[in-house]
Amino acid sequence: MLVALTGTPGTGKSTIAALLEEKGFRVCELEELARRCGALRSYDLVRESWEVDLEVLERSIPKERPLILVGHVSHLLPVDISIVLRCHPEALGERLVAKGWDAAKVRENMEAEALGVVTHETMEKTRAFEVDTTSASAEENARVVSDILSGRGGGHEAGTVDWSEVILGWY
Ligand SMILES: Nc1ncnc2c1ncn2[C@@H]1O[C@H](COP(=O)(O)OP(=O)(O)OP(=O)(O)O)[C@@H](O)[C@H]1O
Ligand SMILES: [Mg+2]
Repeated sequence: MLVALTGTPGTGKSTIAALLEEKGFRVCELEELARRCGALRSYDLVRESWEVDLEVLERSIPKERPLILVGHVSHLLPVDISIVLRCHPEALGERLVAKGWDAAKVRENMEAEALGVVTHETMEKTRAFEVDTTSASAEENARVVSDILSGRGGGHEAGTVDWSEVILGWY
């Protein structure tokens, strides 16, 4: 089984993936893989992010299974299931500010999270689950992800988290 652990930047993918690795899951950080396999194309100075060549990245995925691909483009690869990490937009903003991100990038990602961009993209492509990381600890969230991977994902089917109303309060 090939799994995508995806979500807006700051939702906790890497934090939770590290805990899953401690539990014995095999994980692959896509940013690291993209760097190693030459899948980074051009640097977008405005968005301060790299364009990733998904075809090159796909060819470079390690062959071992099961494997959890970690990163905000993981759901665009040919995975069997996707788990989307979610975080309330205001809390996400605080996390990104704490990571030292500049205001425009923080705003862009808060908006993407409020609109559920990654969830929508994911649901079009594959079987998808969502985990709200806002209030629970990273350990608890890792346990929920582990349960989903063991077939106990009832109640976490994608489409249950909706923060679109948050946007109304911003304008
Ligand atoms: N419940 C939680 N689960 C996961 N992370 C949390 C939680 N609460 C707070 N955090 C914090 O949120 C931040 C999440 O950052 P992390 O690098 O794991 O996100 P990411 O989704 O991998 O982002 P990126 O797409 O930029 O790689 C960390 O600083 C982490 O400590
Ligand atoms: Mg990360």
